[in-house]
Amino acid sequence: MSHTDQHLTVVTHPLVQHKLTLMRKSDTSTASFRQLLREISLLLAYEVTRDLPMTSTRIDTPMQPMDAPVIEGKKLALISILRAGNGLLDGILELIPSARVGFVGLYRDPETLQPVEYYFKVPSHLGERLTIAVDPMLATGNSSVAAIDMLKKAGAKDIIFLCLLAAPEGVARMKEAHPDVPIVTASLDEKLNDHGYIVPGLGDAGDRMFGTK
Ligand code: URA
Repeated sequence: MSHTDQHLTVVTHPLVQHKLTLMRKSDTSTASFRQLLREISLLLAYEVTRDLPMTSTRIDTPMQPMDAPVIEGKKLALISILRAGNGLLDGILELIPSARVGFVGLYRDPETLQPVEYYFKVPSHLGERLTIAVDPMLATGNSSVAAIDMLKKAGAKDIIFLCLLAAPEGVARMKEAHPDVPIVTASLDEKLNDHGYIVPGLGDAGDRMFGTK
């Protein structure tokens, strides 16, 4: 269940929305937040892989042979935008354990809100893979755009950006910089505040999932 335009898909499935509401609540514990994030990432993985190419394979059921559908085998790369991306990554890997994994380390300079790179390690042959970049929060879009720039420079061509919450400002920035990269999210929130946080949002996703502050 989703509302979609060419560039943005909002996953409106009741389970996703219910779990997201629990995650937003400020009195949700770190343990619950983590558990909910793991569960929601499985549901978002379902949506983000919806258009994977299929083929068929000949199998024998106990009754008779049949041509049965299987995923064609386009290679996948999951790219976690550190550090909060790891929360989404873990759940998706449970569903797609054979995916290759990469990491992009960017932190946001608190003064300028601009991304600063500190780590980059991605699987080889990115150009042949569906590359799913994950970061729970698409806020200003600065770090997401920078991460996608880096992935494209490394050869990625077929990229999807998966997040939990998106701000309209971040969606617009991504659309302008990377119109070829569809965004999948559980919610398009209202706006950014003066510190670049999404409102109503859920606070700092990294702090909430790792219990830091
Ligand atoms: N990063 C977060 O963790 N939360 C926001 O609201 C924006 C960026």
